[in-house]
Amino acid sequence: MSSNIGVMGHPIGHTKSPIFQQAGLNELGIDETFEAWDVLPEDLEDKVATFREKGFIAACVTLPHKQAVIPMVDELTEAAESVGAVNWIFNRDGKLIGHNTDCNGFLRALKEEAGFDPKGADAVVFGAGGAARAIVYALKTAGVNRLTIANRTVEKAQALANDFSEGRFKPTATGMSRDELSNYVPYANLLVNTTSLGMAGGPAELATPATADMISADAVGYDAVYAPPMTKFLREVEEAGGEPAGGMTMLVFQGIEGFEMATGKTAPVDTMFTALERALKSG
Ligand code: ATR
Repeated sequence: MSSNIGVMGHPIGHTKSPIFQQAGLNELGIDETFEAWDVLPEDLEDKVATFREKGFIAACVTLPHKQAVIPMVDELTEAAESVGAVNWIFNRDGKLIGHNTDCNGFLRALKEEAGFDPKGADAVVFGAGGAARAIVYALKTAGVNRLTIANRTVEKAQALANDFSEGRFKPTATGMSRDELSNYVPYANLLVNTTSLGMAGGPAELATPATADMISADAVGYDAVYAPPMTKFLREVEEAGGEPAGGMTMLVFQGIEGFEMATGKTAPVDTMFTALERALKSG
């Protein structure tokens, strides 16, 4: 029999979620096993239907299902609707609620790791893919003052800016050339990389969206790339005198947000981080 809480994706072998989620459940004395379900796209609908069963609590949703599950749930939260992706499904008395915790996960990571509240900040987000979308929405809800979206393909940055423009909140879209970035990056106190630049094993592992000479010493630099832990971008932020913060925290805090909504309890954050760190060290 399947458990009442877990993560589903395909492939799923690499996920560390069960390790830190289980540590959290154990610490709170919740008698459940956090499982990992390898679900093929063609089996997704059947799997989601089982989430309505009595006793089922919640499922974390990862690649490639975050969009495909949208029509399969009964209700979307505002975050899921705005981001256009569901990364948690909660069973509320047989009704499935699709939610997105990447936004609050990111804000919490910024606060816990860098003590930074984006309210009133001038921010630059590099990239315009799925991760950028969640972060732009998060920064909008957090009340940033000014937001620039910089992307290699400027049309995508513009489309993202248009999607979230509302009232006084009007993100600026720009390309990623040095010239273009020099109009925004030096004045930003928050820089967030969501591009794949710097990713281990990728074609641009030694690349960075911005260099130290352009980055303000007052800036917090957050990298959604979490492998390696210290990317080229974060080293540039550090060299500029700014504060580097890394992507693993966003990943864990999206999970912690989901854990808290699933259990209705405050997560034992330190225990969950310790469990993950131990697992990463032992490979
Ligand atoms: P995710 O869902 O993780 O955000 P994605 O949707 O594939 O991933 O988005 C990847 C982002 O990295 C995009 O913003 C992409 O830029 P384009 O929209 O121009 O493709 C950016 N990216 C990938 N490789 C890049 C490179 N070599 N230089 C600059 N940006 C790059």
